[in-house]
Amino acid sequence: MIAPSILSADFARLGEQVRLVEKAGAKILHIDVMDGHFVPNITFGPALLKALRPHSRMRFDVHLMIEEPERYVADFAAAGADHITVHWEASRHAHRLIQQIKGLGVTAGLALNPATPVEMLHDILEDLDMVLLMSVNPGFGGQQFIPGVLRKLEAVRRQLESSKNQACEIEVDGGIHTGTAPSVIQAGAQILVAGAAVFGAPDPARAYRELESLSEGFGGD
Ligand code: DX5
Ligand code: ZN
Repeated sequence: MIAPSILSADFARLGEQVRLVEKAGAKILHIDVMDGHFVPNITFGPALLKALRPHSRMRFDVHLMIEEPERYVADFAAAGADHITVHWEASRHAHRLIQQIKGLGVTAGLALNPATPVEMLHDILEDLDMVLLMSVNPGFGGQQFIPGVLRKLEAVRRQLESSKNQACEIEVDGGIHTGTAPSVIQAGAQILVAGAAVFGAPDPARAYRELESLSEGFGGD
């Protein structure tokens, strides 16, 4: 499944752009929150989710690239998030934070930066609804895919196969386009985030459908 990321959308026409990808068939909207500390860029906060919520039925997949995420997860849940992913690198008490997010009635994910080994997932995997593997260093759209994520992806898939948590989804984020998507799908990701490849295209709906048809080609497997 392709999750368009609004990071590369035209912010002056955001509602319109969100409706466009939803009409094209998107079921998940990826929402990148950056604080200028955890990553060297600033985007938006819960007020933006609240404004978009009445305009879309898509699953709001919130990716928090912020320090001290435990201070803000309740605000994002109240603003309309369906899912919240926090970074392992920003969470001192990851287990507590994941329980805190689930306690808000939304699903919870943990994101790993490109240099963070997947082995640290071992003792928390059973608690997660999603593992997000970054395939670029977080902070900006339109960066180049880091191929080392494919090996990590296969390792997470193996960890999940031997765990009790079969429902956990794997999402890959960064540098996804028609050239990189096939290998990511083949390595076992269920959700592919695409920012520049969708909203940077002259026709975002068409670009979305083209990417989505690639994943259908694999029969969802
Ligand atoms: C990067 C963000 C991504 C970003 C991906 O820090 O987490 O979600 O939107 O953008 P593209 O698809 O352009 O690499
Ligand atoms: Zn993201």
